[in-house]
Amino acid sequence: MFFQNSIIEKLKKLPTPYYYYDVDVFELTIQKALQASKTINGHIHYALKANHQDRLLQILAKYKIGADCVSKGEIEKAIKNGISVNNIVFAGVGKTDEEILYALKEKIFCLNVESIQELEVINDIANNLNTKAPIALRINPNVDAYTHKFITTGLTDNKFGINASDLNLVLDKLKQLKNIQLIGLHFHIGSQITDLSSFKNLCLKINELQRYLEEKNIEVTHLNLGGGLGINYMHPDEGLVPDFEAYFKVFYEFLERRHFQQLHFELGRSLVAQCGSLITKVLYQKQSGNKHFLIVDSGMNHLIRPALYEAYHKIENISKYQHPDQQLYDVCGPICESTDCFGKNVLLPITQRGDILAIRSAGAYGEVMASDYNLRGLPNVYFSDEV
Ligand code: LLP
Repeated sequence: MFFQNSIIEKLKKLPTPYYYYDVDVFELTIQKALQASKTINGHIHYALKANHQDRLLQILAKYKIGADCVSKGEIEKAIKNGISVNNIVFAGVGKTDEEILYALKEKIFCLNVESIQELEVINDIANNLNTKAPIALRINPNVDAYTHKFITTGLTDNKFGINASDLNLVLDKLKQLKNIQLIGLHFHIGSQITDLSSFKNLCLKINELQRYLEEKNIEVTHLNLGGGLGINYMHPDEGLVPDFEAYFKVFYEFLERRHFQQLHFELGRSLVAQCGSLITKVLYQKQSGNKHFLIVDSGMNHLIRPALYEAYHKIENISKYQHPDQQLYDVCGPICESTDCFGKNVLLPITQRGDILAIRSAGAYGEVMASDYNLRGLPNVYFSDEV
């Protein structure tokens, strides 16, 4: 049981709706990830886009984990919370000139570049600063991640990365760009990947690509394998800590890494999803035909994943953990949209107005994607060691 009785009593008293982060679970997850990454001497850059809570970033900084940022705002946040600048990578298809300037001035570790035009812009800005920009080429490897189509990124149809067939063009271009220093290759094929064979396929593509580059006498010292490791949404307690060992083992076995190469990973969800829950209160219950609805005080404005990706999140009635009688409910929010529903036909103990529900595995892409839609306000935030 994730929520012990002593904590439930405290949670019931806090003003809902709110995100609740279990700091011990977060630290345990980080420790396991670091331990597993050591087997291949991998460097982890936490993907801030999953959750940029200061408190969580400070914990990551304590473990000397780097950051994967996609905006100036994220880089600033990472630095402010103690993450070392030379451990920050900057990715994203749409970096503005101002953001590039900022990243170069801060001397971050690497910019992951997604197009030829972006290379030219970075070169110009670096030239003005009289510096060389350290970059990795984000290559779109055309590998299927077998995940939801909205979070697949490594197929030719996706907007991300440079198509491998354009590589020669890029290499020619690089010869002319004197203020660019090619240090690495970057890949990211998608998110919530649970079939590890996708990562194996990625490794095989990278091996091919490396051989091709070496024929042209091009060697890179850094390989960034992106993020994407999925988590167990169905049974969060059984999969509280994702299987990092199995994940890193795939790269150990299948990636033909050169002895001088460093490996980098941009884990987001797998580090932070399971430590977070969205806690909400039942406002009303009602029936329509055979359907039983629970209307709660949080909705798609606070956790959009079910509405946007039809994502499953386990829902628990933590006021009534032990209740013997159960019923199927549609658990819906207060927003004026039919998609504002956290779960349909959710089996819960008989539930009443005032009961507290926990929507599990909400630590990643939950709070960060919250909005003020319908002007209902943003959710509160509490940490396990502060309540
Ligand atoms: N690196 C890059 C270049 C990325 O685009 C992403 C995620 C990551 C790393 C981190 O991936 P992770 O380890 O978290 O899977 N809002 C969606 C997920 C969007 C993922 C965007 N990119 C969701 O709620 O499922």
